[in-house]
Order: sequence, then C-alpha cells, then structure tokens
Amino acid sequence: MLKILKVNHFFAVATALFITVAFSGCVGGQLGQDNSNEYRNGMVVSANELASRVGLNILKKGGNAIDAAVAVQFALAVVYPNAGNIGGGGFMVYRGASGETNSLDFRETAPAIASRDMYLDSVGNPIVDKSLEGHLASGVPGSVAGMVAAHEKYGKLKWADLIEPAIALAKNGFKVSEQQAGEFNRRKERFVKNNPQGTALVKETDWLEDDVLLQPELAATLEKIRDKGQAGFYEGPVADSLLAEMRRGGGIISAEDLKNYKAIWRKPIVGNYKEYRIVTMPPPSSGGIALIQLLKSVEPYPLKRWGLNSDSTVQLMVEAERRVYADRAEYLGDPDFYKVPQVQLLNDAYIKSRMANFNWAYATPSSEIKAGVLKGAEHEETTHFSIVDRDGNAVSVTTTLNGSYGSSVVVKGGGFLLNNEMDDFSVKPGSPNMYGLVGGEANAIAPGKRMLSSMAPTIVEKDGKLFMIVGTPGGSTIITSVFQTIVNVIEFNKNMQSAVNAKKFHHQWLPDTLYVEKGALDSITTLKLINKGYPILERGSIGRVDAILKTKWGYYQGGADKRGDDKALGW
Ligand code: GLY
Repeated sequence: MLKILKVNHFFAVATALFITVAFSGCVGGQLGQDNSNEYRNGMVVSANELASRVGLNILKKGGNAIDAAVAVQFALAVVYPNAGNIGGGGFMVYRGASGETNSLDFRETAPAIASRDMYLDSVGNPIVDKSLEGHLASGVPGSVAGMVAAHEKYGKLKWADLIEPAIALAKNGFKVSEQQAGEFNRRKERFVKNNPQGTALVKETDWLEDDVLLQPELAATLEKIRDKGQAGFYEGPVADSLLAEMRRGGGIISAEDLKNYKAIWRKPIVGNYKEYRIVTMPPPSSGGIALIQLLKSVEPYPLKRWGLNSDSTVQLMVEAERRVYADRAEYLGDPDFYKVPQVQLLNDAYIKSRMANFNWAYATPSSEIKAGVLKGAEHEETTHFSIVDRDGNAVSVTTTLNGSYGSSVVVKGGGFLLNNEMDDFSVKPGSPNMYGLVGGEANAIAPGKRMLSSMAPTIVEKDGKLFMIVGTPGGSTIITSVFQTIVNVIEFNKNMQSAVNAKKFHHQWLPDTLYVEKGALDSITTLKLINKGYPILERGSIGRVDAILKTKWGYYQGGADKRGDDKALGW
C-alpha cells in the first residue's frame, strides 16, 4: 500500500515518529554484515534457488559463465514463470576473464504489422490494458535466439546439456514457494480469462506452499529447443502453436516475424566513476546510459562523508535522477530506428551543466526540468541473474516478460507465457506507460523496432579487474536500484548483501514524486526533505538486486535480494 507523506507539519511529524519507532535499528542498509556466503571458484545469484542450483551444477561440471547463464535462463522459464521466460526477451553484459567485454540484445521486436497508433482509440487516447494484457500486447520473443547466440559465441558445454535441467524441472515438477502460491492464486481470474483452454498455472483449488507445479507442455517445447536450437522455437511445431494462439486471441505476430527474429551483439556502454570502470547495456536499453549519467552527476560530491540515505545524499541523487529521466524520455529509443545521441548524453561537460541549476534550498519542480539541449545534436517484474565462473568470466543478464506473467497468455500446446512488452513503447508519445514513464517520438511504435527498456545489467571493474556483477528487475526503478547498489558498495563500504538489503528510493522526473521504501529514511531526513518540497510516497519493495562482488582477497561475495526468494550459491 502506498502512503503519501504530505507537506503538512503535523502529519509529517507523526509519520516521522512512526518511521523512527518502527524501523530504528534497520534504517538504510544497516542490516547485518553477513560474510558467510563467500566462495573462490564461482557463483550464481538468481531469483530462485532451483535455478541458481542448475547454474552452479553447470559451473561445477566445467561449464563457463555463459553455459551457466543459458541453463539458468531456461530453468527460470520453468521455476520462475512470472519473469523467467522463453516468451520474452532481455539483455546480457559479458566480461571475459581476460577483460574483453560484449553485450547481447535479445529484446523483443514489434511485429511487422504493428503501427504507431495501434493502442489508441478513435479520438487518440490509449485504450486501457490493450498494450498490457492479451495477445496484442506481445512483441516477438527474443530469449531463445539470445541464448543460442550467446552459446554459439562463448559456450563450452553441449547445448543440449544446458537445456536438460530445465526439461527435468518442467517434466518432474517442483514445489512452489509460499510467495509463488500466493501469486498464482491472486492471478487465477486473469489466467482463466486469457487461457480458456486451461493452463498448468491454474488449478481448481487454491495453490499452497509446496504444491508441485508440473508443466508437460513446456517440457515438450524445451525438448524441441534442445534438439533444434533456434529453429526449435521460431519454426516447426512450437512456432505453429504460437501462431495458432495469435489467431485465437487476435494477436499479430506472424510466421515471418518469428523467422526473422535476430539477437544482436552490441558494443557495451562504458563509463568511469572515480577509479571504477562501468560496463553496461547500450540502447535499446536506456539503463546503461542513464546509469552512467547518474554516477557522473554525483561523482563530484562527498557522498562518503554524507552517508547512506542522509538528506544530502538523497537530495543530490534525486535531483540527478529527475534530470536523467527527463533525458531518457526525450532521447532514448531503438538505435536501429532512431539516432540516439549517446556521445552527447555521456559528455562530462553536458552532465555537469545539467546539475548546474540544482539548488540545495528546495526541490527543483519537475515542470522546470526538460530534457537537456544537446550540442550537435517496470508493476515491475523482470528478473536478473549474475554469474561468475572459475576462470573469472562474468555474465550479467536481465530478462523479462515485462509485467508479472507478461500478457497472462500461455501458448496452448507450448506451455509458455507471452510477454506484454509492447507497453514499453511510447504508446502515445507524451502519455505514461505502466511504470508511469513518459516517452517521446524516439520510442514510438514501428514495425520490427525494439521497445525502450530500463534494464541495466552491469559489470564494474576496478584496476582493470572484475569488481562487481549487478542488475535487478523493477521497471523504471531498475536504473535507480542499480545506481544505489553500486554507490552503497563504493561510497558506503557495504558488503554485497548489505548493499542489496539497503532500503532504496526512486525518482523518475514524472510523476514529480520521491518514492521511498518503508524504512529507507529516518524521521529527521524525512522532515528535512518534506520541508524542502519533496513529495514523498512510501511504497513496497524497490528492486530485487542479484549481484556478486569480488573481494580484495579474491573471493566472490553474493548479494541475493531478500525481498524475494532469491539465492546466491557458490563453490
Ligand atoms: N520491461 C521492463 C524494461 O524493459 O525496462
């Protein structure tokens, strides 16, 4: 439940007192420094213990980080259906043991007959839920092509051996967690509405913790992918099921769309923050550019002295976020369709100039902030996993169906959920999407185009060596969560788990609201910010970061977000 903290003195004091009493002792990541999860030979951190275990077993069998990533991606499609997927897409950032970096874009694309105004009514207003639920909400899935491309370039073990664990989990079933049982029950009505033919996710009685979820149709689909690779999904019987599903529900993905889908290797975005080198995802994600802009915006200030979630730290970061998200709305889109002014956005002088009108005395109203003038020119379900192998190869993957369980459509006969990623386009340039994000022409719908993302899988180096692998789900809060996690380690000396645990906050320019996790700010800080004119809104979890830190002693330290069932496993 959201609770607005208004600029009302009595209310502010009462709320501040409430926060002090309820959260004293656990404010802002002062949670225990747990060093028990440090390993030397490799590590997998994902949203689900079974998936982390699959990845760890691959590493122990001699697979490298890419092998483990492929196995984890398919395992998550089985054991974490709200965001793990083969019917969605995502991004991967890779750093080989010898320092070479790469990034892979397996983002969904708009179908060939998609059009700019396809979600608008006759007077030009967005039709509620049309880009979010049902068959028309889906982009052409990219995950299977992505995993094939990653394996072809860097994989070591046999492809089939990487899919087998997922097949076994789908065929033999697994016990659902309490959180999953609750989610399946809450979504039952929506699943039934969108899948009149039935789906494994719906049963007559309520789901209970430890009930076993069996997915035989999904197992058969995974077997086709195991045997035929990319063609096992984009052609043949699995493609036929997806196309039949489109015909049944009025969707527009065609056989040609499936056949033409390609994952793309792209040059990662690289930037420096102090002595750290940040390697992150380029467009069509906004995540990488925005992350570097944020880090650069705060670099000149003494965050370490101010401390975690102090009023100065929060104010500075929020003002940086306000300006960076305004740029995001104007300038970011699929680089194959729109010339993203990447160099200008990352220019040091430009970033400095953006912060020049920031005033410590009061909150800059978002109405006064527009995208900068350039010279020359995520409901929040997604999932992230971080992996490092024995040789030090590192992989950072964020993958998504967009909303939880995507479009809620499970392909009949195929057993997998389809994404609702079309909502990440600017359905109506200037109108907010499901995350309240406003986008511009750069992200308007066009056939074959990739919708803008906030996903920010990232790898950080220090002194030329691997330092951190980090990423998170969370829609528009992805960028700010990754930003804060990195800052928590570098500036506030948190270990990986504490940096992940730390309560987070978020501002995205529009709406002009400072979102805070319960307990993120102490009472005095809350009051100071309210008095400066920051409208504060308490909300549930922000982010679900899964990250790995390499300590100076050469051990890998996991941070698995306790906001979910996430698990760090190493050896
Ligand atoms: N669907 C969430 C994102 O890509 O940012």
